[in-house]
Amino acid sequence: MTETHTLTVNGEVHEVACPGDTPLLWVLRDRLGLTGTRYGCGAGSCGACTVWVDDTPVHACDTPVWSAAGTDVATVEGLTEAGPHPVQQALIDHQAGQCGYCLSGIVMRGAALVDSARSARRPLTAEDVKAGLDGHLCRCGAHTRIIAAIVEASTGMSDEA
Ligand code: FES
Ligand code: FES
Repeated sequence: MTETHTLTVNGEVHEVACPGDTPLLWVLRDRLGLTGTRYGCGAGSCGACTVWVDDTPVHACDTPVWSAAGTDVATVEGLTEAGPHPVQQALIDHQAGQCGYCLSGIVMRGAALVDSARSARRPLTAEDVKAGLDGHLCRCGAHTRIIAAIVEASTGMSDEA
């Protein structure tokens, strides 16, 4: 049944008419034009569709739109108000992407990890990042550089580039 859902995405309020079980991913990409969030597996297994709902990373492919109503959704397009997030800068510095398909999801997960580590004043270890990225697939096998970049972002070194 089609219903109207009120969503706040990257600080903007949208009214979207669709069935409540429509995946948030389809609303973001097809209705709001936010195609930075990627469709990989569609089954909660690859992490390509990761966005934040109330500052917590979730898979947009298995989040029904009804459950996102009344929350603050952030996508890679709205991660920062100006300039790259330290994770994005570090990924650039390390030339960590190849095809880049996995990276918007990894950026959203990595930014949550880095923001938390910086708040706690405890930089991430490679093991922390590996555990944090456990649900993210990179088909290009760029994991080594991605992990190094996220560790560096947590230290603040990427801010000085
Ligand atoms: S597309 Fe959502 S986890 Fe793969
Ligand atoms: S850079 Fe290609 S899938 Fe990760």
